[in-house]
Amino acid sequence: MKKNKISKNWINKQHRDIYVRKSKIEGYRSRAIYKLEEIDQKFKILKEVHTAIDLGAAPGSWSQYLSEKILNGKILAIDLLEFKKINKVHQIIGDFSKEESKQKIIEHFDKKVDLVVSDMAVNTTGNKNLDSIVTGELCLDAMIFAKNQLNHKGKFISKLFMGSSFNEVVSEAKKIFKEVRVFKPPSSRKDSKESFIICKILR
Ligand SMILES: C[S@@+](CC[C@H](N)C(=O)[O-])C[C@H]1O[C@@H](n2cnc3c(N)ncnc32)[C@H](O)[C@@H]1O
Repeated sequence: MKKNKISKNWINKQHRDIYVRKSKIEGYRSRAIYKLEEIDQKFKILKEVHTAIDLGAAPGSWSQYLSEKILNGKILAIDLLEFKKINKVHQIIGDFSKEESKQKIIEHFDKKVDLVVSDMAVNTTGNKNLDSIVTGELCLDAMIFAKNQLNHKGKFISKLFMGSSFNEVVSEAKKIFKEVRVFKPPSSRKDSKESFIICKILR
């Protein structure tokens, strides 16, 4: 399919999508907010959370949600892309996979944190296995970082794609965390291969 046909299809889909309309009415920057909200409603990920890191945060709806729910806490968001300032959120523009970005995050908190969330994704190619591998690598990088930066009772949530890297990511998560669940929120598009991994309590 030609590139401008793909973008037209994407725009048409956006117009029809109830979550896109809802996010506009409610003042959120992306429909992605509802995925995090649904994960939170099911798994209570924000219980006793005072410090949180949002990886792949732009345009910022997850950070908006975190800043509404975490009162008197500390939130940091990082993305490759610039995004508009969010109240109470410290923002870094940079590549999370670079060591210097990780150092900046660590220095900002100077102690272990309660929650790491990652919605990091690169543009999907439509090739199920390639998309799964690329997102799987981002997820594993974030998971290792979370392992080192989380409090014992900390939580790690990440996007991952069904496909060839799925089993590896889940089995790695089980080595690091005591509780591991995989969940596709109702607001995640049915034709998308994405799911989320919800991990709690370090081993
Ligand atoms: C699906 S969007 C995130 C949407 C966001 N959760 C929200 O609610 O607005 C995925 C983001 O991951 C970012 N990303 C991908 N690779 C990254 C990396 N290595 N470092 C930082 N951000 C990255 C992209 O720039 C993109 O903005």
